[in-house]
Amino acid sequence: MFSRYNKSTPPGRTGAPTAVPTSAPAAGIGARAAAPVSQKTAAEAAASDRDKKRKERLTELKVEIHKRLLEDLNLSALESASEQNLRQEITSLASEALDDMSVALNKEDRLALTQELYDEVMGLGPLEPLLKDESINDILVNGPKRIFIERAGKLELSDVTFRDERHLLRIIDKIVSAVGRRVDESNPYCDARLQDGSRFNCMIPPIAVDGSLVSIRKFKKDKLRIDDLVRFGAFTDEMAAYLQAAVSCRLNIIVSGGTGSGKTTTLNALSSFIDNHERVLTIEDTAELQLQQVHVGRMESRPANVEGKGAVTQRDCLRNALRMRPDRIIVGETRGEEVIDMLQAMNTGHDGSMTTIHANNPRDAISRLENMVAMAGIEMPLKAVRSQIASAVNLMVQASRLQDGTRRMTSITEITGMEGEVISMQEVFRFERLGVDPSGRIVGRFNATGIRSSYSDRFRQWGYDLPASIYEPTV
Ligand SMILES: Nc1ncnc2c1ncn2[C@@H]1O[C@H](COP(=O)(O)OP(=O)(O)OP(=O)(O)O)[C@@H](O)[C@H]1O
Ligand SMILES: [Mg+2]
Repeated sequence: MFSRYNKSTPPGRTGAPTAVPTSAPAAGIGARAAAPVSQKTAAEAAASDRDKKRKERLTELKVEIHKRLLEDLNLSALESASEQNLRQEITSLASEALDDMSVALNKEDRLALTQELYDEVMGLGPLEPLLKDESINDILVNGPKRIFIERAGKLELSDVTFRDERHLLRIIDKIVSAVGRRVDESNPYCDARLQDGSRFNCMIPPIAVDGSLVSIRKFKKDKLRIDDLVRFGAFTDEMAAYLQAAVSCRLNIIVSGGTGSGKTTTLNALSSFIDNHERVLTIEDTAELQLQQVHVGRMESRPANVEGKGAVTQRDCLRNALRMRPDRIIVGETRGEEVIDMLQAMNTGHDGSMTTIHANNPRDAISRLENMVAMAGIEMPLKAVRSQIASAVNLMVQASRLQDGTRRMTSITEITGMEGEVISMQEVFRFERLGVDPSGRIVGRFNATGIRSSYSDRFRQWGYDLPASIYEPTV
């Protein structure tokens, strides 16, 4: 019945994204309980001790050989060399060094060592395997010895470490200098984009107290699409059909949510409903959106340079965008003074514009909009600000990351106007939490609230005749 939302789906797409596991693997736990506990623990401890010693030895060797490599390798020739030649060169220099040092390594350790050396010389050292691992979404470094990763919505401590703070700083420097920036005592933090498009932020000591802090949001080439999100349980087919009608009928939409809740992913997926003939301009601080339409102009803001000059803000981009004859404008995240121009654009003929906002629920999102307007220095009575917001924004979509790591669209709320001084809203769909199952997963269901969309007529006029049943709650 709702197959219409599939219309922009290219057939036979490959490279399906990593699915979120539905339950934690429990097999190992039972198996362990069967063995005598003390024996098992002693054996495990010995094995982990051996493994630790082996790793320490490999690290020492790596440091030593890396030093030699930097002396022996012709660094300027590296840039033009092919990956295969480089690997051969590094392998043979590493073998020579190991012979010199009279160290014998088994094949596995030798391969691991040359891979790590290659990553160290050509890539981002210990971060490289984490960047290559497609099941990892986020990499969070808290000083050299603690690197957390997010997999399937869950944060875990990885066994990867940097040698020391200097090593971490060297890798940070490599990343930021590649994009013409630098971090030092006077400028201790920086945003950048890695070569593969991943979003990168760092902050170094003394502002970062226990060692440099790094956050990386990995770039996914295969973005999650509407049907992936439905399959992962982020929302239902019915909600997808409603959202398709909303985007196609050019409602102005705000996706609100907490940090890492899936706002950008949702925005990107919603954009797939935009008609191919429309001219869409996107504005972001770090370009993450990947629209599939033909007619897309992408803009990325730029911070000031070391002398404090040359900044191009999202607001600058937005103002310029208005002169570029856009049908729709998409702002990756509204967080400052650009809110004024965004609301104006939504109010003045750029229907169908979309953005995201950091907020925990639709009401908070409205308050944040109000605060942003106030902080942009616009002296307007609150009621006037609210009526601007009420006439600009049609729909709020709430993205949430629940405690079990799953990401869900917890509310779809329409803005229906003003009642006195207050913006009136009506929730059309929501996620109802029912409890938690023994494995810690949140049990719940999506439900309609029973309120029919206030845009039903508009949907029908535009050819999206949604059946009344999708607004009926299941009890
Ligand atoms: N429904 C989902 N199921 C599984 N993974 C998801 C889902 N939604 C988002 N993700 C993944 O979660 C990570 C965070 O998503 P996203 O970048 O969209 O969040 P965000 O709210 O925009 O974060 P930020 O606040 O940092 O901008 C991404 O790696 C994305 O691929
Ligand atoms: Mg985002």
